Amino acid sequence: MLRKVFELPMNLIIGHPVIDDDHARMVRIINETAVALEESKFHEATKLIFNFIELMREHTVREEEILHGTEFPWVEEHAARHRQIMIMLPRLIDESEKIQDGGKAWDALIDKLIECLLADAFEADLAFKAHLAGHRV
Ligand SMILES: [Fe+2]
Ligand SMILES: [Fe+2]
Repeated sequence: MLRKVFELPMNLIIGHPVIDDDHARMVRIINETAVALEESKFHEATKLIFNFIELMREHTVREEEILHGTEFPWVEEHAARHRQIMIMLPRLIDESEKIQDGGKAWDALIDKLIECLLADAFEADLAFKAHLAGHRV
C-alpha cells in the first residue's frame, strides 16, 4: 500500500523564502525516500537519507545566518536546538541499513525523517516566524 505523501502544514510556512525553500526540499526528499523504500530500492533510499542529512546540515547554517541578520533574540537557543537535531541524524543511516530485509520498519524510518524536520520547522522555527512577522509591521 502506498504511503500518503507528506506535506508541510501551511502554518509551518515561515515567511522567509530561503528557509521555506530548504524545508520544502527536505519534504521532497522525505517523499522520494518513501517511494524508494516502497519499491525496495534500498540503495537509493540510503542515498536520499544522506542527502537529507547533508541538506539539514546546510540548512541549519543558512538559517542561523538569517536569524543573526534579523536580530532574532534567541539565536543561541535556536542553534542549540539545531545541534540536538544534528545528533539525531546519523541514527537514520543505521536505521536505513537495518530495514534492508524489506520489512515494514521503513514506515517508522520515514516517520523519523519527518520528526527531524518538524523538530526544526515546528518546534524551533515558529518562534522565528513570529519575530519575522513582527519585523514587517
Ligand atoms: Fe531552525
Ligand atoms: Fe528550519
